[in-house]
Amino acid sequence: MTRFFYDGQDCESLNGESVLDTLIREGHQVNYSCKKGACKTCLVKHVEGELSTGSQRGLTVNLKKNHYLCACQCKPTPGLKLKSVLAQDLFIPAQIHSKEYVSESVVKLQISSSELLNHSAGQYINLRRFDGLTRSYAVANDPGSELIELHVRRKYNGQFSDWLFNHASIGESLLLQGPWGHCCYSSAYVDDDLTLIASGTGLGPIYGIARDAIKNGHRGEINLYHGARSSSELYQHASLLQLMLEHRNFTYHACLPLSQVEGEQQLSRVQFGDPFDIATAHKPIKEELNSTSRHRVYLCGEPDFVTRGQASAFLNGVPLKRMHVLSFEYKDLRTVPR
Ligand code: FES
Repeated sequence: MTRFFYDGQDCESLNGESVLDTLIREGHQVNYSCKKGACKTCLVKHVEGELSTGSQRGLTVNLKKNHYLCACQCKPTPGLKLKSVLAQDLFIPAQIHSKEYVSESVVKLQISSSELLNHSAGQYINLRRFDGLTRSYAVANDPGSELIELHVRRKYNGQFSDWLFNHASIGESLLLQGPWGHCCYSSAYVDDDLTLIASGTGLGPIYGIARDAIKNGHRGEINLYHGARSSSELYQHASLLQLMLEHRNFTYHACLPLSQVEGEQQLSRVQFGDPFDIATAHKPIKEELNSTSRHRVYLCGEPDFVTRGQASAFLNGVPLKRMHVLSFEYKDLRTVPR
């Protein structure tokens, strides 16, 4: 048992618990989402005492300098003193600027913020609503716009996503933190062959990365694979086909499960099978290792999907340093205590 202090109150951690786990168990009002050090929704401030290794891993220099740490990554040390963070310390005011339903379960939102943010497709932001609930969403548009575009899928029992989908209206006030993350396009990759693979609303950032590459005059091939459960989830099918017609080096692959072969005749250019198998069959990466073109893989979607994609790409010869991943780590279910 280790004793530490949070906002001046005594806390006692059990063996192996993080600061966040202890605060949750003891009933403190704390925000969190991924519990993996990725989302930054659990930030607290260090006041005094020894910090365990890794408490500030992944934070920007500025956040470290200002004594922030991730409660989920911090192991309590005896006498450690921490304090909660005020929303205004880390968040800026934002609003829902527009809302467009693009399928039965996906809504496209544009968010305006009180400050111009230097965002890129493939990064993510944290949104905080009136009651303090905070969740992370992937940025779907390329730099240069004042608005941030998000593709939000309504999840069964999703606390924040359900609210955004069904209740939040245009003009709704929010607080915004970020952007964070590095799963973005860079002009240094202009000659590389890009394989972009998304599942579900992972398409938002992946599509944004493709547009960013095209806008930057990308010279290598770009292959975008979108895995969906049914044709109704291929929510950008028409515009991706259009993009393919306009750019010779861009190819779009719509991928549906083999179980959907029957009765999925209505959409053109749909392939059936696992997106990773389709990607590997289309462009066998191993054969290209000796050529001058380099292969770069972007993966975006649910954690299981991203992990499977990393394994598949690695086994096919793509080194980890040329994989860019954005995994939707979240705890967004009403059954999970905040
Ligand atoms: S970084 Fe701690 S909950 Fe996500």
